[in-house]
This record gives sequence, structure tokens and C-alpha cells, in this order.
Amino acid sequence: MGNLKGRDFLTVNDFSRDELADILHFALQLKTERKNGKNQPLLAGKTLGMIFRKASTRTRVSFEVGMYQLGGTALFLSAQDLQIGRGEPVKDTARVLSRYLDGIMIRTYEHEEVEELAAYAEIPVINGLTDLLHPCQAMADLLTVLEHKGKLEGLKLAYVGDGNNMAHSLLLACSKMGMHVAIASPAGYEPRREIVRAAQENAAAYGTEVLITTEISQAVKAADVLYTDVWASMGQEAERMARIRVFKPYQINREVMQLAAKDAIVMHCLPAHRGEEITDDIMEGPQSVIFDQAENRLHAQKAILAKVM
Ligand code: CP
Ligand code: NVA
Repeated sequence: MGNLKGRDFLTVNDFSRDELADILHFALQLKTERKNGKNQPLLAGKTLGMIFRKASTRTRVSFEVGMYQLGGTALFLSAQDLQIGRGEPVKDTARVLSRYLDGIMIRTYEHEEVEELAAYAEIPVINGLTDLLHPCQAMADLLTVLEHKGKLEGLKLAYVGDGNNMAHSLLLACSKMGMHVAIASPAGYEPRREIVRAAQENAAAYGTEVLITTEISQAVKAADVLYTDVWASMGQEAERMARIRVFKPYQINREVMQLAAKDAIVMHCLPAHRGEEITDDIMEGPQSVIFDQAENRLHAQKAILAKVM
């Protein structure tokens, strides 16, 4: 197993294919051990600080419980209550927190803030979502695909909707791990060019395909995994109504399911807006693995925590 101690986890693309595969296999091992009642004191005596500038259910609870299950402690640090919320510089906060903690998880707006925190912190920093990326979710997603399909290589994931943080992290993660990835977004809402370029470089190196299109049918055709996310992400609340109009055709519903592989699984990082990006019947239907995905946040993150802290 490669030694990842001290590494930041800001984007999946900072890690090699072997390192990501190691994390996934370790996550599976931790999940099995936990279900068998084994003690996992891998981070005994260690403390993770969790800075939140945005709301969270899954990320907060899974990181906190994950630390507890590994024998450590997690501190919930709302940015509203920290001095950072009153303008204390990120670079000072990073150095101060490094004197108390063994790791920091942060959820914020600008990705650059996480990079600055990581640059000044002497302890590992984990990205718990930025406007650009959501790497921990992508790891949980790969774990879920692996469990349901028995492999990653050669599978096709189709993402329908906004070219957002989730689309970005899936583009990078899938293209590196041997999955073909197709994104269908309305014109003007495509994934960022530099992320697409990085995914294309992965694709060239690992023999995968990356497709960016406005045509849902093209993206979804024969897909093994259908994925969607909200049309308006956190921080875009003011655009919500305008986005609902633009994104209306970009919904995972029964008709779209017909175009995918017969045994396709349906994924959503949650929270979901039923009747917008996904219909209730598909979300609650037999092909949905959405709640396994949510569970796997815990196992994937425990593996990341135990490896970097
Ligand atoms: N999927 C996800 O990150 O959920 P939360 O916003 O609830 O953390
Ligand atoms: N794209 C969504 C993901 C939430 C987990 C957002 O950023 O709000």
C-alpha cells in the first residue's frame, strides 16, 4: 500500500490511479470490518477540524462518525462562528489550526481558498466540496459502482445536468479509473474547459473516452451508470428559477432510462429535488443505488482519513 501520510486530498487528480484504487480497496476492507464488528482504532487520539461555509448533512455526519469509528474526534467548526467569518486570514487560520489538530476538512465556495489553506497548513487538508470540485463524493461514487458492477474498467457513466463541481470530479475520477464518461449539459452550463482538458489527458493515458454534449440521448446511450445532481448548487440560489427553465429537458426519468443499458444503475449525490433533475419513481425505483452512495461517503472517507492523517 502506498504511503499517503501527510498528503492533502483536494482533488482526485492529485493521486495516481494506483493510489485511488488503494483507497477504494481499503474502503471496502474498512466497510466489511465495520459490519463484522471489528474495532478500527487507526486514528486513536487524533482530531479532525471540519470547517463549513455551506450547509451539509452527509459530509458533516459521515466525517464526524468516521473519525469516531476510527478512534479519533471531529470538531464541527462553522465559519460563521470562527474568526475566519470576521475576516481573519485563511493563511493565519491554517497555521493556528495546525498547532491543535491532525487534519482539516473544509467545505467552502472558492476552490482557491482550500488551496491556500492547504498551502499554509502543516497538516493534511481534505476538500469537503468547493464550487469547483467534490472529490470525496466521487470516491464514494466509484466505491458504489465497484460494489454494484464488480468493476470500473470499461463501464460508461453518463452525467445529465449542470457542469458543476460533481460533474468535474466525476470527469476526473472516471477518466482516470478506466470508465468512459459522458456529460450532457445545456449550452452555457458545460463543465469548465480546464477540467475537461485534464479529463481528456487522463482518457488518453488510460484508454477511456470523454464526451461533452448538449444531447442527452447521445450521452445516455448504453450507459451503465446514470448520474445527476441539482440544477442550482449551493451559492446559486438566486439563479434557481432561471435554471429550472433551462434545465427542464435535462432530467433523469423513465424515458431517459430506456436509452441506457438495461441494468444501468442510477446515482445522485443528494440532496435531490424530485421532479427537477430526477423523477420520484426513478429515485425510488429498483435501479437506484442512491442511498448506498450516501452510506459509502462514510467508508470512502474513513479510508482517506486513515491514509492521510
Ligand atoms: N452529497 C453531499 O455532499 O451532501 P451534503 O451536502 O449533505 O454534505
Ligand atoms: N452541486 C451540489 C452538490 C451538493 C452535494 C452543490 O454544490 O450544492
